[in-house]
Amino acid sequence: MTPPLEPLDWSTEGIVHRRERHFAASQRAFVPYRKPLIFQRGHMQHLWDETGRRYVDLLGMNVCVSVGHAHPVVNAAVRDQIEQLQHCTTMFYHPVPAQFAQELVARMPAGHDWVVHFTTSGAEAVDLALVMAQTHTGHIDMLALRNAYHGATIGAQSLTGISGFRHQVPLLGGIHHVMNPDPYRGVFGNEVDAYLAEFDRTVQHSTSGRLAGFIAEPVQGYGGIVECLPGYLKGAVERVRARGGVFISDEVQAGFGRTGDHFWGFEAHGVVPEIVVMAKGIGNGFPLGAVVAQRHVAESLASKYFFNTYGASPMACAAGRAVLQVIEADGLQANARQVGAALRAVLERLKARHEIVGDVRGRGLMLAIELVTDRRTKAAATQETAEIFERTREHGLVVSKSGADRNILRMVPPLCLQMADLPEVEAALEASFAGY
Ligand SMILES: Cc1ncc(COP(=O)(O)O)c(C=O)c1O
Repeated sequence: MTPPLEPLDWSTEGIVHRRERHFAASQRAFVPYRKPLIFQRGHMQHLWDETGRRYVDLLGMNVCVSVGHAHPVVNAAVRDQIEQLQHCTTMFYHPVPAQFAQELVARMPAGHDWVVHFTTSGAEAVDLALVMAQTHTGHIDMLALRNAYHGATIGAQSLTGISGFRHQVPLLGGIHHVMNPDPYRGVFGNEVDAYLAEFDRTVQHSTSGRLAGFIAEPVQGYGGIVECLPGYLKGAVERVRARGGVFISDEVQAGFGRTGDHFWGFEAHGVVPEIVVMAKGIGNGFPLGAVVAQRHVAESLASKYFFNTYGASPMACAAGRAVLQVIEADGLQANARQVGAALRAVLERLKARHEIVGDVRGRGLMLAIELVTDRRTKAAATQETAEIFERTREHGLVVSKSGADRNILRMVPPLCLQMADLPEVEAALEASFAGY
């Protein structure tokens, strides 16, 4: 008989000791709070730590928990699948991934022939999108936005425009970062034409003139909820296509109804990408990602293998099917729009009362506030943000500290956040900002 596992040790000292002793530095480094925060349980938009203390989750475990922690429909779908067959590697046939692909394609803009390649993470999907763009076009040069986060694998890291995530190794060649159209901090303010002229200059000076593609998040997530200015994506994509390239929309954070107005972030910009990358919210926490591409682009890989052992995992795809079903049945896109607008109003009131809040931005349940020591110079309030961030936790909120200067509080909760949660959120934020 198999002996029982050693019982779990929930003590802070035990967990810290084991992590310090056994985690590699690369996995230890990325921790938000001064004191460890240990989570034991979650239900919908709430989390509980090991002492039983409840938190309103405004982070959704890094935008992964889209429809709610331990959502009963998702759990039941995964449980049913596990009981039948835990894993079925991509090379064998199974109905769950096949049907999920069909359901996902049904969410894409009509009038195009879409196909799906499942992966286990966003970075893996970004890598595949890059290979697809280069293979399809026969070109090498790729453009990406500064301040973008696309993942940690070598390909995704090379496309990432934040130095803290770029390692001192030879990253991929042929990738050029263009200025991101940031209305708050960008040197051209909200002058779309000036950013597009700069885009042209980068193409002219840094590339061969022929492009494989351009990747962008319609709303930069980790970069601090920076929305592409209206008109920018359309102008940039036209320029890329004129030079033979394709547009890759990274919907890892903005997709699945999070922005409230649309199911996909790119839909707000009147462009249809050739390739769409998705992950995180697609699986509500189960490891799943996907590249959804137009068939004529994806077919370029038909003569080689791009094999992901867990790509079409029936467990993860069962979760994905349930997520789509719940977004629809629970009206979560409309909820993101309505509750997001009300949460944004909470943040605007916070700005009216606290000088340190320099900017409030975002849409739906993809929101952020940027903290500055001086609203005129916009100097980043990095230390103050660290202090306020610690307080938000003490007052029962989980938010994220983001941006290159770590002075942005990002809020990307499960899409089931309720209006009834907002008074508690506002009181907790107000208490956290006291004195600022
Ligand atoms: C916009 C975006 N793209 C890609 C990724 C990479 O996803 P993963 O961490 O699943 O590899 C992330 C992760 O934070 C992301 O935010």
